Amino acid sequence: MIREFHLACVVLLVACPAIASQPVIPVPAHVETRDGVLSIDSSFAVSIKGTCDHRLRVAVDRLTDRIQRETGIPFHGSGDRPPTLVVSCTDTGGTIPTPGDDESYTLDVSAGGALLQAPSSIGAVRGLETFWQLMQPGTSGVGVPALHIADSPRFPWRGLLIDVARHWIPPDVIKRNLDAMSTVKLNVLHFHLSEDQGFRVECKRFPKLHQLGSDGHYFTQDEIREIIRYAAERGIRVIPEFDMPGHTTSWFVGYPELASAPGPYAIERTWGVFDPTMDPTREETYEFLDGFIGEMARLFPDPYFHIGGDEVNGKQWDSSATIAAFKKQHGMSTNRDLQAYFNKRLEMILSRYGKRMIGWDEIFHPDLPTTIVIQSWRGPASLAEIARSGYRGILSNGYYLDHMMPASYHYAIDPRGGEAAALDSIQAQRILGGEACMWAEFVTAENVDSRIWPRAAAVAERLWSPASVRDSSDMYRRLDILSPRLEWVGVRERPNRTLMLERLTGYRDISPLQRMQEVLEPVKFYVRSHTGKYTSWTPLNRLVDATLPESREARRFGEAVDSLLADRGTVSVRRRIRERLIRWSAVDVQPLVAQSALLHEIDSLAVVFNGLAKTGLEALTAMEQKTVVTPEQRAGWLRILGAADRPYAELLITIAGPVRRLAEAALLR
Ligand code: ACM
Repeated sequence: MIREFHLACVVLLVACPAIASQPVIPVPAHVETRDGVLSIDSSFAVSIKGTCDHRLRVAVDRLTDRIQRETGIPFHGSGDRPPTLVVSCTDTGGTIPTPGDDESYTLDVSAGGALLQAPSSIGAVRGLETFWQLMQPGTSGVGVPALHIADSPRFPWRGLLIDVARHWIPPDVIKRNLDAMSTVKLNVLHFHLSEDQGFRVECKRFPKLHQLGSDGHYFTQDEIREIIRYAAERGIRVIPEFDMPGHTTSWFVGYPELASAPGPYAIERTWGVFDPTMDPTREETYEFLDGFIGEMARLFPDPYFHIGGDEVNGKQWDSSATIAAFKKQHGMSTNRDLQAYFNKRLEMILSRYGKRMIGWDEIFHPDLPTTIVIQSWRGPASLAEIARSGYRGILSNGYYLDHMMPASYHYAIDPRGGEAAALDSIQAQRILGGEACMWAEFVTAENVDSRIWPRAAAVAERLWSPASVRDSSDMYRRLDILSPRLEWVGVRERPNRTLMLERLTGYRDISPLQRMQEVLEPVKFYVRSHTGKYTSWTPLNRLVDATLPESREARRFGEAVDSLLADRGTVSVRRRIRERLIRWSAVDVQPLVAQSALLHEIDSLAVVFNGLAKTGLEALTAMEQKTVVTPEQRAGWLRILGAADRPYAELLITIAGPVRRLAEAALLR
């Protein structure tokens, strides 16, 4: 890994010699570089000054352990020398992170030592992560560059939603993702715990929730407490979401009386928006929810409790005579009013248990108090209206990781951008931040890391760093360095992908498949959902499931082609393009395809992929040697480019765009 790290730095130095910023994500609010480097050697030691709570002590141990593993240097203490890093913190310390926590810190590094100062242990935890990211191998060993950093977040709410309901994600996977979240200073784990397809927490008062609604895949309360403890040590709040009154089929398997239409109900196995909805007109519904929320409020210490509230299709409500009568009796003309009534009742229950309500856009209603927080999946216009109306909100629209969009796409979206840019400063302050969302229709415990990381780091930077930090190529430069390093933190992207590819090939040599896969990407947005062929039983063991959402190789190839076509192409850029095209045109996956049923579907993909690479090579040669493109050649190129315009086996061949540009340039010459 050190070698890869080093190579990334070398590539970066060649590509952008003028860039001075450190490879840290998120970019700190204020950095002054100094001369010199602090060496990390076997005398590495950290000491804590001031009042030190448990969180800080374990964070220091964690950092020391990680640096030791990553560098391969056994540490044996600083002896008579001063410690490498002094952490000074005056926190008397709560044990659970809370919304207004001070996360600021300053870090001063010189050749003689480093000093990290923070008013809270959470700020110190943030600073320790910065210190780790700054650590780089150099010509004279591993070191941290001399500098001064004064850092604090732009937004207080920087979250990651993990949907553990549609596919089960067990505790160890959650924990390693908490470690990665801490690395990029995300501070809220939004746990999407119930859905039509599963109810994932042990409930002692109403045990049929998890017993009948989970296929046996649920967190025990001890496991939840352990996750909360683990998160708290990393300065991460855990907010439970129990989505209601819709998205509740799994609840009704054990408790059909909660629904607006008679059962029986079974756990939903397909994806979409479904009819089963709680009955908001029965007092028994609220008695149940009071008991349920009371128990969950004790389990989850965060002051916020997410009630979902999204995508109520109203079909069960519309077809019930008693619900129609209730609406009439209460002067409600719409289902939106009925849902607001339900939410008001929920809000009163939550208040009684000391909780503040958070929910999706659909809970926004003037009947609800402005103490609620609204999470916008609908977008900037909705969020701006929320803030103008006196409510606080967070943004998730544009941060859906399941859409398989590139990091640059998420990075460009600012919670205070779009319509929110017109808000006055008081209104703008009501936008508390945002959350990346890992919805799990097409995600399993085995590939979830590869869907979250590294792209969530781009969202983390958007939410932490000053708004002026917007250069997406610099973000990619730093992301390419951080991404392999996340494996040291615990993310299992590369090892799991390798295992998945080995399974696909029947444990044969996966390298041809890897060479093709490096420029493939899964289809975007809801293309897979819209096929209608998936259920929660469908194995997610295909090439598409083992392929990263964003191809780094294709991005770099595209940049090289653009630079060539803009006449900036150096000899090495030309050579790189040619080498890549030769490499891809020579890939032969057919022997693997012939031997594995799981790979049969990529037969045509491989043919088009090879043809595309050959087209690129011919176009490059025609450009360089200024040869005439024959009509037959042209027709062949157009045929293959046309064929490459669509997905195969739900995979996109991402070099199609750059190869098209090369071909067009060769034809226009
Ligand atoms: C959502 O995407 N329905 C929150």
